[in-house]
Amino acid sequence: RKSAPLPADIRARKGGAPLVSLTAYTTPMAQMMDAHCDFVLVGDSVGMVLHGLESTLGVTMEMMILHAQAVKRGLSRAMMVVDMPFGSYEEGPQQAFRNAARLMAETAAGAVKLEGGESMAETIAFLTARGIPVMAHVGLTPQSINTLGGYKVQGRGDAGDRLMADARAVAGAGAFAVVLEKVPQGLADRVTAELPIPTIGIGASAGCDGQILVVDDMLGLFTAFKPKFVKRYASLGEQAEAAIAAYAAEVRTRSFPAAEHVFADAAPGAKS
Ligand code: KIV
Ligand code: NA
Repeated sequence: RKSAPLPADIRARKGGAPLVSLTAYTTPMAQMMDAHCDFVLVGDSVGMVLHGLESTLGVTMEMMILHAQAVKRGLSRAMMVVDMPFGSYEEGPQQAFRNAARLMAETAAGAVKLEGGESMAETIAFLTARGIPVMAHVGLTPQSINTLGGYKVQGRGDAGDRLMADARAVAGAGAFAVVLEKVPQGLADRVTAELPIPTIGIGASAGCDGQILVVDDMLGLFTAFKPKFVKRYASLGEQAEAAIAAYAAEVRTRSFPAAEHVFADAAPGAKS
């Protein structure tokens, strides 16, 4: 693949080989995943992962734009999706369009993502009809943490019908894909079977049409807590801290810098 897939290409992958995606917030990480991911999400998880916020609620448009611009510079093959931050779209379709258009224009994103089911269907239809591809996000929607009452599994028991209705609503409104976060496996499989668009699981099911993880979680860089659905493929945080400790010890014993890191008074070969 030479150029980034379009949302329509992602949508066409429904029922096919699993879609691969990760979050990214910086150019070097984007460069590392470009060849391996179908799309990269500049998630509002950036607030917790890189800015030390307690939740995603404090993330601003300016933060999303700055990180998305950095990510875009690292991508040549993967599509970039950018999260709409809390407060940038919930007032109504027009506010959502204004902010989504700004994200698209200033970051060259291929699509935006926003959280919500039936309550966001009208907004998703409004954006889609006006040239803005939308990825939806249902189940655990972290921007609603204060009304959901905790980061618990969504859609268990009777709540499963509600979640199915939300998923149908966003697909019907024109979303080209939908993230299913922290929902029971059986429900995720039923939603995947029902919907005409790809489901992207995180804490959902291997049967989803694709998967996503927060990159700092899967690399072991973000270690404040680890949701059950995270698999750590590396322990880069531990390695980084060990490297920092080794540097500190060497500075304190004057064993760093060593001969190979310092400069002679005269340049090599210089005439005196
Ligand atoms: O912000 C984020 O990282 C996300 C993914 C977990 C889907 O929304
Ligand atoms: Na998000």
